[in-house]
Amino acid sequence: MSLGEYTMFLLVVVFVSVSLMSDVGLTETFVHSSYVAAVYEHNLILNPEPRVPQTRSAALQHMQKNLDIYEEQAARAAQQGAQILVFPEDGLQGFNFSRSSISGYLETIPDPQQESWNPCTEHGKYNNTEVLQRLSCMARRYNLYMVANMADLQPCALKTDPSSSCPPDGHWQFNTNVVFSSDGLLVARYHKNNLYFEESFDTPPQPEMITFDTPFAGRIGLIICFDILFHDPTVALVEQGVRQLIFPTAWMNQLPLLDSIQFQQAFSLGANVTLLAANLRNDQMIMTGSGIYTPFSATYHHAQKGDPEEGKLLVARVPVLDPLWVGQSVATEEVVVRVESTSSTATDSEFCHKESCLDSPPTETPSSVPPSSSTFISSMMYDPFTFVLLKETEGEVNVCNGTFCCHLQYQQIPQGGSKELYALGAFAGTHTVNGRCALQVCALVRCAGLDVSSCGQEVEEAESKMDFQLEGKFGTRSVYPSILASKFVLEQPEHLETAADGRVTMKHSNMTAGLVTACLYGRMYHLDHE
Ligand SMILES: *[C@@H]1O[C@H](CO)[C@@H](O)[C@H](O)[C@H]1NC(C)=O
Ligand SMILES: *[C@@H]1O[C@H](CO)[C@@H](O)[C@H](O)[C@H]1NC(C)=O
Ligand SMILES: *[C@@H]1O[C@H](CO)[C@@H](O)[C@H](O)[C@H]1NC(C)=O
Ligand SMILES: *[C@@H]1O[C@H](CO)[C@@H](O)[C@H](O)[C@H]1NC(C)=O
Ligand SMILES: *[C@@H]1O[C@H](CO)[C@@H](O)[C@H](O)[C@H]1NC(C)=O
Repeated sequence: MSLGEYTMFLLVVVFVSVSLMSDVGLTETFVHSSYVAAVYEHNLILNPEPRVPQTRSAALQHMQKNLDIYEEQAARAAQQGAQILVFPEDGLQGFNFSRSSISGYLETIPDPQQESWNPCTEHGKYNNTEVLQRLSCMARRYNLYMVANMADLQPCALKTDPSSSCPPDGHWQFNTNVVFSSDGLLVARYHKNNLYFEESFDTPPQPEMITFDTPFAGRIGLIICFDILFHDPTVALVEQGVRQLIFPTAWMNQLPLLDSIQFQQAFSLGANVTLLAANLRNDQMIMTGSGIYTPFSATYHHAQKGDPEEGKLLVARVPVLDPLWVGQSVATEEVVVRVESTSSTATDSEFCHKESCLDSPPTETPSSVPPSSSTFISSMMYDPFTFVLLKETEGEVNVCNGTFCCHLQYQQIPQGGSKELYALGAFAGTHTVNGRCALQVCALVRCAGLDVSSCGQEVEEAESKMDFQLEGKFGTRSVYPSILASKFVLEQPEHLETAADGRVTMKHSNMTAGLVTACLYGRMYHLDHE
């Protein structure tokens, strides 16, 4: 990276952090309760024929090329003071393997809950662990915690019992996060629970809830990619009080609701957690978008069309959110109080329980405005959203799908006569394409064209800025808010509020770029299997 580019990068990070942090008075807290995190968006070197089995030595040769890049980035991250560095899902081997063609890439990763092993200093202990050894030595050499994703082989007992979850070939293959401490010790191993068309991997017999402790930030939880959309283990970890999550991903972007950085921000805000998200960069697979998110700040990267296909290191200082760790020092207790006094006003911290959600579905509309008359249905991300157009330059609209209603107050800021169509959409139902997710969604979108049928289609750019208040009454406490502006710019919502009755309000004004999507993405986890 050139010096100019480096300066730009620092400016961007400083700008984002300071401008968002100053609102909540966190600047001083850096002294006592913050740490430096890094994520690397990796433009991986692929195996051009993933379905052809490789010998172990050919597979290793391939992975060493990606490990060489990891090594350079670990050095750069360390230079910038990083205490923890996260690499993406599939970043060493790639994807599209079959169950058998991936075999050369597999290592058997010992369970760090059962034994203490430093692969760098005790490399003779296990054969066939070259990748673990190299990662461990890297963490040690650069004196940082390191999280990488790799393929794990675990032998299992083949029983005569046909209901045994052990595959017929006598072993499991897991999509796995490994974590090394700054002296190279293997401290955590997490097997992905929610696979996304990965025929080379097995779902673990039980969902795993894996956390590890650090001396600089306390407890951190582990998830992988598709996991972020489901209750287990992601929301289960948050419900247990885990406030910092690490998220290696290989995320295929899908506008207008599930672009990588859009959902990363949404999750961090909705779950009130720090999220360290490292994505792959691969244009053919539409993969880009990584970041370091706290409930008050976002440092992120999203490549644009035409950008060179290359990696990106992000480094940011973030506050410690682990309540146990924070409680350890007097200095940081003040911090908690100050954050509380300025944060948005959730009045009820209870999550939605299955019974209460089902017994009392929301029936009233969130405002006295009757549902706007001319609604239409258009498909957004394969779901039939009920939409209403924004016909004036300012006003109020209301739209319902069944008893689930969304309400919008808006004022468009005139932008030199640009003609752009916007619509407010509501969806309550189960998304079933490429995974089952029960949803309640309110989304204000820019339609891709000037025809109503284009509402819900993908669009990346917009000129119209808007001041707005978007509101819905949800049957869940898990609502993930996001504001995506033109050319993949995130905006931090000015005001977010959750009322005890499930009403969520997101207010925003003074946008820096045109509005692409403003969304309240409610997840009805308790209905996923019905
Ligand atoms: C992986 O598979 C997908 C879907 O079959 C395909 O579009 C893509 O090109 C493949 N990528 C690689 C790197 O093999
Ligand atoms: C590693 O492999 C060598 C050669 O196959 C064998 O002699 C040795 O016992 C193995 N070591 C371990 C720890 O399994
Ligand atoms: C988010 O967490 C902070 C503590 O870190 C807490 O003070 C605040 O009330 C939480 N906000 C919400 C909306 O739950
Ligand atoms: C939402 O709208 C769709 C499409 O009109 C409809 O099939 C579905 O029943 C509605 N959902 C509810 C909960 O009414
Ligand atoms: C938005 O901009 C206007 C005019 O510059 C300013 O008066 C107002 O305070 C800003 N609002 C927020 C919430 O920053």
